[in-house]
Amino acid sequence: MSRSAHPAGPRHADVLPEGHYSAPPTDLNALDPKVWARTVRRDERGVATVGGLGVDALAEEFGTPAYFLDETDFRARCRAWAEAFGKDADVFYAGKAFLSRAIVRWLKEEGLNLDVCSGGELSTALSAGMPAERIAFHGNNKSEDEIRRAVEAGVGRIVLDSFQEIVRVAHIAQSLGKRQRVQIRVTVGVEAHTHEFIATAHEDQKFGIALAGGQAAEAVRRALTLDGLELIGIHSHIGSQIFDMAGFEVSARRVVQLLAEVRDEHGVELPEIDLGGGLGIAYTSEDDPREPHEIAKALSEIVTRECEAAGLRTPRISVEPGRAIVGPTAFTLYRVGTVKPLEGLRTYVSVDGGMSDNIRTALYDAEYSVSLVSRTSEAEPMLSRVVGKHCESGDIVVRDAFLPSDLAPGDLIAVPATGAYCRSMASNYNHALRPPVVAVSDGEARVIVRRETEEDLLRLDVG
Ligand SMILES: Cc1ncc(COP(=O)(O)O)c(C=O)c1O
Repeated sequence: MSRSAHPAGPRHADVLPEGHYSAPPTDLNALDPKVWARTVRRDERGVATVGGLGVDALAEEFGTPAYFLDETDFRARCRAWAEAFGKDADVFYAGKAFLSRAIVRWLKEEGLNLDVCSGGELSTALSAGMPAERIAFHGNNKSEDEIRRAVEAGVGRIVLDSFQEIVRVAHIAQSLGKRQRVQIRVTVGVEAHTHEFIATAHEDQKFGIALAGGQAAEAVRRALTLDGLELIGIHSHIGSQIFDMAGFEVSARRVVQLLAEVRDEHGVELPEIDLGGGLGIAYTSEDDPREPHEIAKALSEIVTRECEAAGLRTPRISVEPGRAIVGPTAFTLYRVGTVKPLEGLRTYVSVDGGMSDNIRTALYDAEYSVSLVSRTSEAEPMLSRVVGKHCESGDIVVRDAFLPSDLAPGDLIAVPATGAYCRSMASNYNHALRPPVVAVSDGEARVIVRRETEEDLLRLDVG
């Protein structure tokens, strides 16, 4: 998203620096429901609350930095996705966004399936009681051990990512006396991101098997001949943080074209099509994500129309939203340490976490918003950059945002929409201790992933 420099300067700047920011919000104390978890609001003291609990008390009890996850919101989003897609489609939550055993239990209770992409995610899912038939196993380089564990467990599907893997999975399944249900992940020549998509003829990336040049058709040919495999469908994932359905339209059209070719060549109508994840969420007030029912309607119309045109029965559709379910449900709570105004530029606000708990800004130039949450303030807006405590100048959490100019050490600030790809991508850089994830619901808070300790670090370091 492009945002332009705002004409009115922050308190300490005569000339505005370059940056990705728009006008300061008219009310710095407002917590926009678009970017904050559903139960977040301010109490009569001006302190932000989640699930009815004040962030001041939460910080006291659980420390900072910490991720607070609104369980009510998470469950409501699961239900909204399940209801939107209905009984004739399947929703697989993409565990890579954030996975823990509590999450697995909630998914199970709310009727969602689960997509995992490593042995670790598979173990987490199985150990929390997700029925294996509700698990899809992904990955571009699954080890033989991972494949064996998945087949033995009886996962509902393995998504095949290469010609070598077709043979590998078939061989392992056969050696275990099983016939594994599989999909083939194809690359359709569409790369979608936010409001744009690029249609390309050639693929230059590690995932999937290209439709171009007949490679995907050849993969289907091979999979259909192997006894250890039951080919149930075709899979396509086109990108991330997507708002526009046009990329899905092209992807669905190309996948359906393959299904028609398969029917013509083999007399087989593959019964399933998975359109992957990648649906966008609001990181800032300027983002306008679609609701699950709009997405379900759009995808189902696209697939039905394309299938009718090709004379095919409409296959069962599945999707794999990760970010769109968990992303908006959590925020990261930080304590402000050093506040350093740079004359004519901006104020650097250092917090007690950083790129170790949110790598997305450094990695993808992601945009976030941030608010003072331990109190309200009527002070002027101050152009700020929220940075971490790591030994790296790219250690930025929120590149450009307005915070009140009376911000002081000890204040609590929070970054919303950090439920996806933050804790799951967290690192121990500078031997940082990865923060806990605390689930909050109806006035109760409980740790679902505990904070790391220095003992945890030293336990792995065997001297
Ligand atoms: C195959 C597949 N499915 C689903 C997802 C989830 O994407 P998102 O969390 O953006 O919905 C990803 C993300 O990389 C993916 O690769």
